[in-house]
Amino acid sequence: MQLYYSIFWCTALLGRVKGQSLTPSGTERVIPTLSPQVNALPSLTPTILDSSAPNSQHCPGYKASNLLENDYGFTADLMIAGDNCQAFGNDISHLTLEVSYQSKQRLNVRIYPTHIAPEQESWYILPSNIVDQPEWDGQTTASSSDLSLEWSNDPTFQFRIIRNNNKEELFSTYGHVIVYEDQFLELVTNMIDDYNVYGLAENIHDFWLSNNHTQTFYATDAGNTVDGNVYSAIPFYQETRYHNSTDTTSHGVYARNAHGQEWLLRENGITYRTLGGSFDLYFYSGQKDDGSSSALETIAQFHTQGIGLPAMHMYWTLGFHQARWGWENISVLQEVVDGYRNADVPLECLWNDLDIYDLYRDFTNNEATYPLPEFTRFIESLHANNQHYVPIVDSNIYVSNPDNESDTYGPFERGADLELFIRDPTTGGFYYGDNWPGFSVWGDFLLPATQQWWSKEIIDWHNGTPFDGIWIDLSEASSFCAGSCGYGRLTENPIHPPFLLPGDPLMFDYNYPEGFNVTNATEAASATAASASQSSAMSASPVLPSPTTTTRGRTEPTPGVRNLNFPPYVINNVQAGHALGKSAIAPNATHNNQYNTTEYDWHNLFGYQISNATYHALLELFPGRRPFTVGRSVFAGSGKTTGHWGGDNTSTWGSMFLSISQALTMMMSGIPMFGADTCGFARNTDFQLCSRWMELSAFFPFYRNHNVKATIGQEAYRWSSVAEASRRAMKVRYSLLTYMYTLFYYAHTEGATVMRALAWEFPNDVSLRKTYAQFMLGPSILVTPVLEPNVDTVRGVFPGVGEGERWYDWYSLEEVRAGPGENVTMEAPLEHINVHVRGGSVIALQQPRLTVEETKNTSYSLLVALDGDGKASGSLYLDDGVSLVQEATRLVTFSYADNCLAYSSEGSYHAAQPLDNVTITGLGAPRNNSTGRNGLYKGWSSAPKHVSMQYGKTNHSTDTLHMNYDVGIGVLRMSGVEQYTSDGAFEGDMKLCFEE
Ligand SMILES: *[C@@H]1O[C@H](CO)[C@@H](O)[C@H](O)[C@H]1NC(C)=O
Ligand SMILES: *[C@@H]1O[C@H](CO)[C@@H](O)[C@H](O)[C@H]1NC(C)=O
Repeated sequence: MQLYYSIFWCTALLGRVKGQSLTPSGTERVIPTLSPQVNALPSLTPTILDSSAPNSQHCPGYKASNLLENDYGFTADLMIAGDNCQAFGNDISHLTLEVSYQSKQRLNVRIYPTHIAPEQESWYILPSNIVDQPEWDGQTTASSSDLSLEWSNDPTFQFRIIRNNNKEELFSTYGHVIVYEDQFLELVTNMIDDYNVYGLAENIHDFWLSNNHTQTFYATDAGNTVDGNVYSAIPFYQETRYHNSTDTTSHGVYARNAHGQEWLLRENGITYRTLGGSFDLYFYSGQKDDGSSSALETIAQFHTQGIGLPAMHMYWTLGFHQARWGWENISVLQEVVDGYRNADVPLECLWNDLDIYDLYRDFTNNEATYPLPEFTRFIESLHANNQHYVPIVDSNIYVSNPDNESDTYGPFERGADLELFIRDPTTGGFYYGDNWPGFSVWGDFLLPATQQWWSKEIIDWHNGTPFDGIWIDLSEASSFCAGSCGYGRLTENPIHPPFLLPGDPLMFDYNYPEGFNVTNATEAASATAASASQSSAMSASPVLPSPTTTTRGRTEPTPGVRNLNFPPYVINNVQAGHALGKSAIAPNATHNNQYNTTEYDWHNLFGYQISNATYHALLELFPGRRPFTVGRSVFAGSGKTTGHWGGDNTSTWGSMFLSISQALTMMMSGIPMFGADTCGFARNTDFQLCSRWMELSAFFPFYRNHNVKATIGQEAYRWSSVAEASRRAMKVRYSLLTYMYTLFYYAHTEGATVMRALAWEFPNDVSLRKTYAQFMLGPSILVTPVLEPNVDTVRGVFPGVGEGERWYDWYSLEEVRAGPGENVTMEAPLEHINVHVRGGSVIALQQPRLTVEETKNTSYSLLVALDGDGKASGSLYLDDGVSLVQEATRLVTFSYADNCLAYSSEGSYHAAQPLDNVTITGLGAPRNNSTGRNGLYKGWSSAPKHVSMQYGKTNHSTDTLHMNYDVGIGVLRMSGVEQYTSDGAFEGDMKLCFEE
């Protein structure tokens, strides 16, 4: 992956590449920009790179005393074991330790200050009414737990977590001190050699996190920085140990803490450091009742016993979404809708970026380009075609210019009357930062009144803009200046963001994906020349002065003082200069609760809270309906209310590749409704990258193409190859919509994952531990995308073939011939993505159409892919696809064995569509010699002689069923079933048997 690091677009000049033109539409006014000083903060040295920083492991540690056993574990006092060390804050001398065997699979260790003044509550305690805090189940004790905790006071307090059934040490602070200061917590765990750790989302990194990586968590608006902090924080990791590749074990660790933090993954250990809060550690055994543990079980435990299960989303949201920033007006939108329909490429939902707004102000309509009521009629025309519409809502609220009477902005004025914005501690007034519209404030979602205000603004806006969901952007929360920059300057509003925007002078985008010079040599050469001349023009006469920054040494801790804006420990924030206040609301900004909780304690939760508030607003707007939102900044537990997209990626092959890893970690984080900006957000794409990416994202839960302004258009119909690639991949996706929805049902009810790493499905195969170039959709679909330019083949493995696993090509249904671990070369012409079905699966399919609704109304068919024993199973979940609380659901369970396909169904939801076809593959003898197979299944050598069918209580004559057996590939295709299932495919139980 190192290869790709250098090709990521550097966004140093641009906080986010987005915004208004220098002269916004319809005005000739020159808009002031902020002075460069306002963007400057001292440049700090991140502590991990600072050789002069104190060694916090030289602190004295703590001694445990006053042990008190209780029903679920014990508590103890932890007293500091020496002088304060003041490493990166003020030491806390007296701590409380709580060890709870909370459930069989979950052990909790909490360490927090014994004496917390009420006004310090938020410094140390993350409220359980905001972020779920798992508690004791009321029955588990030390003796019934999968895990145990051992501790020692020699030389100071240290503890380790042991898996009882094999005595593995899962976590151990032995040999290290615990550091607990008011701005710095540290704990070190020993790790085994060459450990395998995954998760710690959100990151732009290889799936396997490596033993030499620092993951910083501080929500930030800086694009998809490889290895840096990005938009979100889900402080959970899962560790896999392969042992002898026969008895792989897995466990998980969740550190419930929302402060800025760093995880230092090093050769022999992991160092966990936070800027505040408490140690609230949850250890998950990952074990099932039989004592075996797995990654999938560990992840499920984290969801069911940690952060809460993800939401079910409306069925239509699984369709294809198209967004773009830079659609000038309604007729351009209409061209996009028509473009898709004319190209026969499904389009489920159209999204608008900032273009709809008047001067980038939330909840407005640009009267020149998106006038009402034409815009309302346009959205209604989408609805009439069973299509949907989702607009952007930015997290900031424009502050009107107090000197300009005509500059009124209702959402601000109504919120200001209610006093519900985040505050500036130096003035006592609102905190005025800067974002797209100019000086801005942010709702304080700690106040109940803020929810009411937010709901009302959203509901009122829906009157003219009848959207179906909301896209929450900039929720890190992002601000373009450093600190509270609007105080005393509101009369300059609106201002231009303090950097150049796409479409501004000297901002033409000449970047194309890797390999573009091969397919488009002439164009690539002229782009390179133009880019060079633009750069030299820019350096000859910069359009904006660049901010000057001073370098600043480390802040020494001051006794009794917490330095919020420049804490003594400097996390490696990717923003220039690394200060916490860079491009964010300043850490010392305050909330309006009783003790004025600061952003220092709350920063990583802004996105979590605004997404929750938007969820509740939509619930009020559409009572009883599942709210649909995607948010840019998420936290542990966000999946209960929102989906998430990967943020500002780039049109590069590397960005596409890393989106798979990003998706897998979001599956681990309980946010299955995830997708990346397909074809790439920043820079120009090209037909190759866009074809491959449209194919890949067709197997991500959230499937959206999105693009920055002032680059070439990238809607799928713009190139014949991209259109064809999209049509083909979407045919597969739309056939599988009920399968994907069923995966969501299991995610929602059991904490299962929708996309899966091969390592999760094949836990004993150590060769898969770093693999993410291939992945699975649920347990049954293997996806092998092309992730590099200028090739027409792709290599991939077929896991498990040595143990009898069988794989079938999705398109031909032919069984794959592969050896164990063999990297098989497959044909991969530009418009084709390799998809394979795993033997042992029964999948319900529908016929792909141009919308989800049309697809939903087609008849069902079943695809049965036999395993090495001639068996298969599967399930299908059905409901109305819309209601938050379902009146009726149906769960159908399929099985195939001994030449009989059977299904039974539970529940009362009525699916009117009949079942028409049944296709069975794998009826021939297995192709791969395998030692793992029972060896009983020999396959059919000729077509079955007879078929019998029972549906409901009736035995049916089957003379009218059509059967076609392809002996060469072992596929039986049966049609005509619909005449017996016209009341609905799954109303009764079915048994269909073949006689050889
Ligand atoms: C660890 O990563 C750092 C930063 O990328 C690098 O400089 C160093 O060489 C790496 N160390 C090892 C042992 O690979
Ligand atoms: C691994 O295999 C070796 C040799 O067969 C055996 O001694 C050892 O106990 C095994 N380890 C585990 C964890 O099963």
